[in-house]
Formats: sequence, C-alpha cells, structure tokens
Amino acid sequence: MPKSIIAGIGMYVPENVVTNNDLLKYMDTSDEWIRERTGIEERRYAHRTRETTTTMGVEAAQIAIERAGITAQEIDFIIFATLSPDYYFPGCGVLLQRAMQMKEIGALDVRNQCSGFVYALTVADQFIKSGMYKNILVVGAEKHSFGLDFSTRGRNVSVIFGDGAGAVVLQSSDEPGRGILSHHLHSDGNSAEILAMYNPGTHANYWKEETLANFNDAEIGDLFFSHAMIDKAQVFPYMDGPAVFKKAVEKFPEVILEALTANGLTTQDLAMLIPHQANLRIAQFVQKKLQLRDDQVYNNIQKYGNTTAASVPIALCEAWEKGLIKNGDLVCLAAFGSGFTWASSLLRW
Ligand code: ACO
Repeated sequence: MPKSIIAGIGMYVPENVVTNNDLLKYMDTSDEWIRERTGIEERRYAHRTRETTTTMGVEAAQIAIERAGITAQEIDFIIFATLSPDYYFPGCGVLLQRAMQMKEIGALDVRNQCSGFVYALTVADQFIKSGMYKNILVVGAEKHSFGLDFSTRGRNVSVIFGDGAGAVVLQSSDEPGRGILSHHLHSDGNSAEILAMYNPGTHANYWKEETLANFNDAEIGDLFFSHAMIDKAQVFPYMDGPAVFKKAVEKFPEVILEALTANGLTTQDLAMLIPHQANLRIAQFVQKKLQLRDDQVYNNIQKYGNTTAASVPIALCEAWEKGLIKNGDLVCLAAFGSGFTWASSLLRW
C-alpha cells in the first residue's frame, strides 16, 4: 500500500499586523487581559476587499506546490478546510481550482472548524493509500476578520481570532522511514451550540427562549436572512469560553495519547507536537499534562491569534522553516474545536 508524505508545505499571513492595543479603538479590552488569558500579542487581518479566504489559500498553496517540486497541473485533488468561505456556497475548493488554473480535478470542502485541517489530511491520506490519487493539495484558510463582532459585546470572541492560510501537498511515496502512521477522529454533537455561529442557518427549532424573546411575532416569521437578525447582532460567532477550555484540556491529551499508543510509541518518542493554536493556555496545559519539554511543542498563537483551520498548517510550516522538524522526526498534529470535534494525525516527517 502506498504511504503519504508531506512533500511540500506553505503558509501565508496578511501583511496587516493588528496588536492588542489596536483593538482598543473598537472595544473595551486591554493588552494585559488578552495576553494573560490567551497568550495572544498580535494577529493579522486580511485586506478588506483584495484578500479572501481563497486568495490566502492560493498564496500558501503556491509555496507548498513549488516546494513539492511539482506544478499546479500535477495536483489530482483539492481538499479545502475553512469555516469562513468566500461564499456560503460554492466552497473555496473550486475557487482555488479556478484561481490556480488547475485541471478539472475534484474539489472538496471540509467544514470541521478548528479540527478541519486534520480531518482534511485524514481524507487525503485515504485517497493516497487507496492508490486513487498521487498528489493532493490540502488547504486550511480563514478570513475571520470580516465577520467578528468588534464591539465590546463580542470581545470575548473577537480578540482571539486572526486570518491566514496554510497548505500541504500530500504525496504518494515509498520512501523508507517517512509517512503518515495513523489518524484518530472524534466528535460529540451534544456540545454543538457551545461554540458556533448559528446564522444564517435552518435551525429555528434550536433557538433559545431568551434569544426568541428578543423578536416580535412578525420578526420570528422572518428569522432567516432578516434585518432583525442583523439589527439584533445574531450573525456573529458564539462561544462559551470556560466550557470550551474544560473540554479542550481533556480531549487534546486524550487524542494525542491515542495516536501514540496505537503505534506503540510514547510521548518521549515525540519530536514535535503541533497543537491547534486555540489558546496558549490550553497548549501549555496539554504540554504540562503530557510532561513534554518546550522543544517538543510548537506554538505561534502569540503572533497570529487563532486561525482555526489554518492554525495547524501555519504552525507546522513555521516549525519546519525554522529547522525544528527534520526528515524521519515523529510529529503529532492535534486539534480540538467547534462541534465538538477533535482529531490527531501521527507521522514520520
Ligand atoms: N477584554 C476584557 N475583558 C473581557 C474580554 C476582553 N477581550 N472578554 C471577556 N472579558 C470579561 C468578561 O466580560 C467578564 O467580565 P465580568 O467578570 O465583569 O462579567 C470577564 O472578562 C471574564 O469573562 P469570561 O468569559 O468568564 O472569561 P474567561 O476568564 O473564561 O476567559 C477565554 C475567556 C479566554 C475565552 C477563556 O474562557 C478561554 O480560554 N476559553 C477557552 C476557549 C478558547 O480559547 N477558545 C478559542 C477558540 S475555540 C477553539 O479554537 C477550540
């Protein structure tokens, strides 16, 4: 059976650096609060009109393809993970296919939020192992800055997120000592509403009584794509931060250990853990719980904020560019997020 290797990796973050102090223009917050609770010092925001989730994905993909030593014409399939697509539909995969003038290959979008990239990589790996495709482009990209509540009301969410993209070329290989070992995917839909953006959606049955109380009868009849929805700020992400924290610090270590155990390995064998950059405090908690050394974990949320589906490939790319990951190293990618969904992939780089 063929194995999958990451043959090329790339990342892109917008030029525009937004510091914690810059956010004071919009909301009542402080550099101290944000650093203390999340570790974030700054993030990047895409250009309002010139940059989209797809264009950032294209930038990262071009680098990944070039580093893989192939051309865009040699890509057999696209998997694009994002929660902030250019359009409600169609997905970003086809927009990237068009922008990069690729052949009429298949394009799939993955909607798994923070664990989207690990899920996408898992799907790509199955296509490679089955022999169906040789080169698959896997992209994670987000333009969060277009749809956050920048008033004080939304500060618990908006200070956390940033924009960017990462991409890999997953390639069929028989090179000894390298390749993906296993993936471990999980979900628990009981917590779907704890970290979510409800609108636009078809979920009226799930509306909470206190939310419905904000609408009069006429407005309730017009809940979908209504002015009332916008006027009452029902179009932004919702997060119960403490509940997310509690579950994340339980599931991150669990899914990392699951991957190591499945392969007869331990935390001591791990050269590098790339955790989804949700929150530095979560990553530090996981590191402590698994008793990992500082050189075994890579974090860059301080510079980019939480870039959701892009965070794992951005962190992986940066760690590799810094020479912290070498051929044959045991690397674990792990993510937890909205759904809840959580996942890990273990590979020999
Ligand atoms: N600036 C200043 N004050 C703020 C801000 C802000 N940006 N946001 C919230 N506050 C205030 C609140 O209004 C509240 O004030 P009050 O006590 O007067 O009512 C106080 O800070 C505490 O609010 P909490 O929401 O309880 O804040 P908490 O201490 O839990 O920290 C945080 C919030 C950082 C989100 C925390 O819950 C956390 O780390 N959660 C993990 C979730 C996470 O990191 N999610 C990332 C995205 S999801 C993912 O990737 C998996």
